[in-house]
Order: sequence, then structure tokens, then C-alpha cells
Amino acid sequence: MDDLKEKYLAKIADAEDEAALEDLRVQAIGKKGEISLKMRELGRMSPEERQVAGPKLNALKNEITSALAARKAALADAALEERLRNEWLDVTLPGRPRRQGSIHPVSQVTEEITAIFADMGFAVAEGPQIESDWYNFDALNIPPEHPARQEHDTFFMSRAPGDTRPPHVLRTHTSPVQIRAMQAQGAPIRIIAPGRVYRMDMDQTHTPMFHQVEGLAVGRDISMANLKWVLEEFCRAFFEVDEVEIRFRASHFPFTEPSAEVDIRCSWDGGSLKLGEGDDWMEILGSGMVHPKVLEAGGIDPQQWQGFAFGIGIDRLAMLKYGIPDLRAFFESDLRWLRHYGFPALDIPTLHGGLSR
Ligand code: PHE
Repeated sequence: MDDLKEKYLAKIADAEDEAALEDLRVQAIGKKGEISLKMRELGRMSPEERQVAGPKLNALKNEITSALAARKAALADAALEERLRNEWLDVTLPGRPRRQGSIHPVSQVTEEITAIFADMGFAVAEGPQIESDWYNFDALNIPPEHPARQEHDTFFMSRAPGDTRPPHVLRTHTSPVQIRAMQAQGAPIRIIAPGRVYRMDMDQTHTPMFHQVEGLAVGRDISMANLKWVLEEFCRAFFEVDEVEIRFRASHFPFTEPSAEVDIRCSWDGGSLKLGEGDDWMEILGSGMVHPKVLEAGGIDPQQWQGFAFGIGIDRLAMLKYGIPDLRAFFESDLRWLRHYGFPALDIPTLHGGLSR
């Protein structure tokens, strides 16, 4: 029995894995194992012999069983240690961001514009993209027969057969938000309204859906000089470069009087769009003093209040600032384009942090 004990304890201590341990268990205490066979011999012994051999065999069996269990646990511990050593990981290392998505230049520029005007005290207002004929045109001093209606290349919604009211439209500009904001807040008011607008037009600088940001400031004595300062200040902050050259050009809009458009000097040489050089001018915004009839439509007394309004083409600004030559690519959802021109999602534009970094 001592030989058996020594033999198995040594083998168990040397076992390399669970399979080897299982083999040893079968050899020692399995049904036909050496120790089990010895136990069967007890029956043929005299009672005296049995009294000595029985407890000894049982003790041996128990000892082997616990040696097997102990070795099994030791092997499991060693395996765990090994895994911990191999799979060790320095959690203090900086993460490596996987850039799966990016911010579209239009969103980026909208954020930049919002940050600049917020700094000048303008709050953000919104309005619907499907707009009534009245808000999109009449309230802005564009009556039904006015030629400006044709210039807007409007998309019309359809009415139920027999319904003779004028159809709703996809808003052709963000100017209807002027009316909605005045109705909602009254005067004084200082808002911008960024959003989508729609016109039937398509070439290198036009798409049927594009983006504008409307601006409106109404007070007791707001003048054209304030308008000019605000727009110049905006251009300086937005383009973040000294060379940008802008020009104010006398213009006409039914909803402002007087009116001015702002162009920016640029060049299209060699198929790339560059800012502050060349002999081309790109129109980026329309503006003027709010027409008294528009104030009235917004529920504001033109005898008491006056102000300015402007409408900026967001997509045009994005093209100019980031040198993107074709507007149509903005809305094709080509991942390669988005990866190239997109912005990291966590860099939120602020005036103090640098708008575009
Ligand atoms: N709504 C005009 C446009 O779409 C822009 C504009 C807005 C002009 C406000 C003057 C004042 O082109």
C-alpha cells in the first residue's frame, strides 16, 4: 500500500494537465483501478486482516482523491496566471480613436456661424421647411404677381383635388423665420435662423436643397451702419484670415429697403477654389433694412421699430473657407469625400478655441 501511495502521489504531482489527471484517477480508483481491486480483495480476508487493511485502503483512496483535486486546482491557478501574464494590458495608455464618422462641412460651418453670432447676442430660431405661401412670400412683401416669385424656382406641394387655396411650398429661403420669430417674440429681437431651403437649380454652385442662415435684429434705432459692422465682423471672424476681401453691392429684395449683397473675392484657377485672390467674386449673402411691411406682417409697429436682416448661404461659405470646388458633392454621401472634408466629431467650434482648428 505504501508503494501504491508513493507511486500515485508522485505521478499526480507530475501530471501536466487535466487529461493526465483523469488517466491517473481511472488507474488508481476507477472501477478497475489498482486500489479498487485491492478493496475487492478485502472480502477474501480474515476479519482481523480486514480490520487493519480496510481503514488503510479507505484512507489511501481519500488521500489519492484529495491529491487529484489539489493538483487540478493548482493546474487551474497556473493556467489563470499564464492568461493574466499574456493578456496584460496597460489601461493607462491613451486611446487610439477610430474615425468612423465625421462632421459634415455644412454642420461644421453652421456651428461656426452660430458661435460667431451668439457672441454678438443673437439667439437661434427655427421654422418649418414646408412653409405656407403666405410666410414664404406674401408676408415678405412678395405678393402673388410679383416677379420675384419666378426667381425663386419654387417647389410646390400638392393640394387635394378641388382645394383651391394656394399650395404650400418647400421654403425657398429662411426669411419666413423672420416673420415667425417676430410674431412669437415681438420687438426688440435679435435672432439667427439656420436651416435647409429648396430651389429648382443645379450646377457647380447650386443644388436643389441648400442651407441658409437668416439674421434679424430689430430695435429702436438699428441702422444700416450696424448691419455693415455686424457683417464685416462676421466675415473677419469666420474666415480667420486677413486677406479676405469683401464688397457691398447695392441690390434689391422686396423685403428689405435699402438692400445690399456681399461678395467675396476668390479664384477658381486650376479647378480649385481659393479665397482672397483672383478676379472672381462669389455672392455669399443678401441683406438690408427690414421693409416696414415685413415688420407689420410680423406684428411689429414700423413707426416704433426698425432693424436689419440678412441671409447667408452656408454651403457657399463652406466651399470658400475649406476650398471645396463643387457644391453638388456635398450631398452625394460619398464616404471618401466625407472622410476628406469632414471634421472630427469632438472638436466643437468656439471663438476662444479657434473656430476650425
Ligand atoms: N432671402 C434672401 C435670399 O434668399 C436673402 C436675404 C435675407 C436678403 C434677408 C435680405 C435680407 O436670397
